[in-house]
Amino acid sequence: MKATALAHPNIALVKYWGKRDEALILPHQSSLSLTLSPMSVTTTVEFGAASDQVELNGHVAKGSERERVLRLLETVRAQSRTALGPARMVSRGDFPMAAGLASSAAGFAALAVAARAAAGLPRDTRAESILARLGSGSACRSVQGGFCEWQRGERADGEDSFAVQRFDVSHWPELRMVVAVVDRGEKDVKSRDGMKHTIETSPYYPAWVKDAEAEVPVARELIARKDLQALGELCERNAWRMHCTSLAADPPLCYLEAGTLGLIQHLREARKKGVPVWFTLDAGPNPVLLTDAAHEVAAEALARACGALDVIRCVPGGDAELKQEHLF
Ligand code: DP6
Repeated sequence: MKATALAHPNIALVKYWGKRDEALILPHQSSLSLTLSPMSVTTTVEFGAASDQVELNGHVAKGSERERVLRLLETVRAQSRTALGPARMVSRGDFPMAAGLASSAAGFAALAVAARAAAGLPRDTRAESILARLGSGSACRSVQGGFCEWQRGERADGEDSFAVQRFDVSHWPELRMVVAVVDRGEKDVKSRDGMKHTIETSPYYPAWVKDAEAEVPVARELIARKDLQALGELCERNAWRMHCTSLAADPPLCYLEAGTLGLIQHLREARKKGVPVWFTLDAGPNPVLLTDAAHEVAAEALARACGALDVIRCVPGGDAELKQEHLF
């Protein structure tokens, strides 16, 4: 009745931006990401508690955070053949506070794997990915390591909308992602609200959906060939297009800050000097640089020279896994 799982965050090379079903978290388009190490979230779930208890990073979760966790646990109860009762859930991330990375993807992936195991359900990456998706869309891509593709699916019940691993963690060990923190503050508009506003008001949104869907198989092919330059270029244009569709919303949604642009503009110069480095950008101001092991030090130096407050170097991460040691 008790199980613990560890999962890593992921950063999308082709982003997910917009839901066709908000309740089930079904996307308009497919996306593709790289799971990242060393950061991780560890979560323990035990059914049979006196009442539902949700603790995240040492705090009792409230509001929508708690609701999202309880919803996932409720789904597991419905899938179990035995009566499980209320659950206690404790989750801890080892993310540096400054990472500027959302821990929710790793958090919901770890929760999905732990909750199913605690309920006595067998390991099943498809079922875990669908479950993690109900907490946060991008979490469905953190159940497995390496490069994962979230297939949008067609069905109204979401049973065909989950992530599949295209290449495992050992496929491209020299690939690096360098997180450049140019602003440590909380973002003003959360992804969930930002994508909804974009769908409702941006005339560019349909073009985004069509383009992103078409880029996924292209990215897959470039990853298969380990073509860093072409993947870097794809990654940048996909990030620009996601931000363009948001900038075209009404009122506009701008996640870029002066520090973001300052760093991005220097990447072209760096490439001219032979440093293979490209960026991607989620719904916030902190660029994530894509490079290789031979140039991660140069990428970090560039980020710092452009004013990055913190820099976190990441390598490809592995699958979410069950752990023998529990958090309580
Ligand atoms: C820009 O997965 O955090 O990082 O499904 O509403 O919880 P919800 O959103 P979330 O959005 C991630 C958006 C993104 C792009 C990506 O990770 O693909």
